[in-house]
Amino acid sequence: KIPVIIDTDPGTDDLTAILMCLACEELDVRALTAVGGNVGIEKASVNALKIVELSGKDVKVAVGAKKPIVRELVTAEVVHGKTGLGNVRLPEPKMDFYEKDAVETIYEEAMLAGGRLKILALGPMTNLAIGLLKYPELKEKIDSIVFMGGAMNLGNVTAAAEFNIYADPEAAKIVFDSGIHMVMAGLDVTHETIVTREENRRLHALNSEPAKVVAKLIDYTIDRENPFNRRGGVMHDPLAAAALIDSSVLETEHYYVDVELRSALTRGKTVVDVFRVTDNEPNIHVGVKSDNEKFLAILEGMISQYEV
Ligand code: BDR
Ligand code: CA
Repeated sequence: KIPVIIDTDPGTDDLTAILMCLACEELDVRALTAVGGNVGIEKASVNALKIVELSGKDVKVAVGAKKPIVRELVTAEVVHGKTGLGNVRLPEPKMDFYEKDAVETIYEEAMLAGGRLKILALGPMTNLAIGLLKYPELKEKIDSIVFMGGAMNLGNVTAAAEFNIYADPEAAKIVFDSGIHMVMAGLDVTHETIVTREENRRLHALNSEPAKVVAKLIDYTIDRENPFNRRGGVMHDPLAAAALIDSSVLETEHYYVDVELRSALTRGKTVVDVFRVTDNEPNIHVGVKSDNEKFLAILEGMISQYEV
C-alpha cells in the first residue's frame, strides 16, 4: 500500500476527496493534516475529525497552520458555507487530535515511509512549506505531491488566481521550488470535471451514510450559483484525489510553473511557461486534460465501498 498524507482545509469538496482516498485499498492514508483555508483552522481541523469518523476508519488528524506564512488568512465561507461543510451537519467528533502538529506529523510519516510518502494537498500549502523550511531533508523523503491548485488560464478568487495558491502564495512558491515531483490539478481541468444532477442520482442511490453525505454535498455544489459552469458541480479536490488513485484520469505536461508574489492584481497567479521561454527546468506535471468518464467511475467506485 502507498503511504499518503492528505493536507486539507475541509471544505465541501475536500470531504468527497478524503472519502474517496479513505476507501481506496491501494492507499494507506496515514494522517489528515489540517490547514486554515476554506475555513479557519479551528473549523477545518474539527471538520477533518468529523470526516474521519464518518468514514468509520482509524486515521489520525493533526492540527496545522493557523495562518499563511506572510499574508493574512482569507477564507471561502461564501463557497463552502459557515461551517465549511455546506448543507450537511455531521455529529460532533469523539476522537481527539493527534498529539503532534501537522508539520511534525508530515515529518514523522515521511521518515517512517522511507521515501515512499505521497502527499495529496487540497488547501493552501502552508503546512508543507513550513515543513520544508524546518526540515530541508524532507524533500528527499517525499515521493510526490498531487495538488489541487493554480491554473494555466483561469482565476476563481480573483480574475488571475485560484484560491489555494492565492491564499498562501509564498508557501506555494517554496513547495514548487523544492524539487519534489509535483502533479497539478488546476482550474483548467477541475472546471472540465463535472458531476451532473443526473449522474449524482447514482450516488444518492447508494445507501451508506458517507455516500449520502457526498451526494448531498455534490447537490450543494450544483445548486450554488456558479458563474463558470452550469452543467453540474465542478470537482476540484475530488479530481486531485482521483489522480492520486489512478493517474490516467489526468493528462499532464511538464512545465516550469512560478507564482506571482508581488502584484496585488495578479497575486497568487500560477505562471506556466508553456512555450519554454525561460531557462528554468520544468518543475510541475500540469494537468491539461481530464477524463470525465473515468473520474465518474473512480468517484462512484470509491464511494460505493462504504458499507451500509
Ligand atoms: C479550491 O479551493 C477550495 O474552495 C476548494 O476546496 C479547492 O481546494 C478550489 O479553488
Ligand atoms: Ca480544499
